[in-house]
Amino acid sequence: MKVLVVVSSPNADGLTAACGEAARQGIVDGKSPARVINLNEFKLRRCAVCNGGWGPCRTKHRCQLDDDFAQVQEMFQQAEGYVWVTPVYFGEPSEPFKAFFDRLRRCEATKKDGKKSILSGKPTVCVAAAGGSGNGAVHCLAEMERLVKQLGAHAFDYIPITKATREYQLETIHDGLSAMSTPKPPEQTMPLSARKGSRSGGRSKRRIGRRR
Ligand SMILES: Cc1cc2nc3c(=O)[nH]c(=O)nc-3n(C[C@H](O)[C@H](O)[C@H](O)COP(=O)(O)O)c2cc1C
Repeated sequence: MKVLVVVSSPNADGLTAACGEAARQGIVDGKSPARVINLNEFKLRRCAVCNGGWGPCRTKHRCQLDDDFAQVQEMFQQAEGYVWVTPVYFGEPSEPFKAFFDRLRRCEATKKDGKKSILSGKPTVCVAAAGGSGNGAVHCLAEMERLVKQLGAHAFDYIPITKATREYQLETIHDGLSAMSTPKPPEQTMPLSARKGSRSGGRSKRRIGRRR
């Protein structure tokens, strides 16, 4: 599974970058290719709300602003799964994150009559990287959840992380992405009711101990 890791922080050595790296390593350990991009490094203007409300985003599913948006939209098209990592600012995703996803939503959530969002059904992990307080991390994830749903993606996991939880949550991100991207044998994709000998109803024993 080709997984696109999308980060959106100005800090190359901050918590957001560490989450992106943990995700990348998890994907590689899951024997899948990973591509990491930082939205802050692209020229991405905010939506211009063309023509009093809608531009070609509504009918042609592309944005008419002349910047890097189409290039990133193409990367979303090519990917088979995603990780979105944002720093928590005022309890919300970062401004570059919002600027990009506002425009992607206009192009993809408006598809109908047999046309599908380019994210349709693709597994997605959302990570909110917060400061010491962690205030607003859950609210930030709730906003990301709305985007996942509006864009038609499949929610794989939502992970909050702070300085205090950094060590074990980086492991969670790594292991989560490894699990998401590793090709599954057919029986693991069957509904629980169809599995033979599933006396636990699909519940597995909780893993005790650390990976490393
Ligand atoms: C403008 C701004 C607003 C912030 N708002 C919050 C917040 O609401 N809650 C929180 O826990 N941390 C907040 N923080 C702290 C960042 O989420 C935290 O430092 C995060 O690790 C930043 O990511 P980075 O390490 O990639 O820069 C804020 C930081 C900035 C710069």
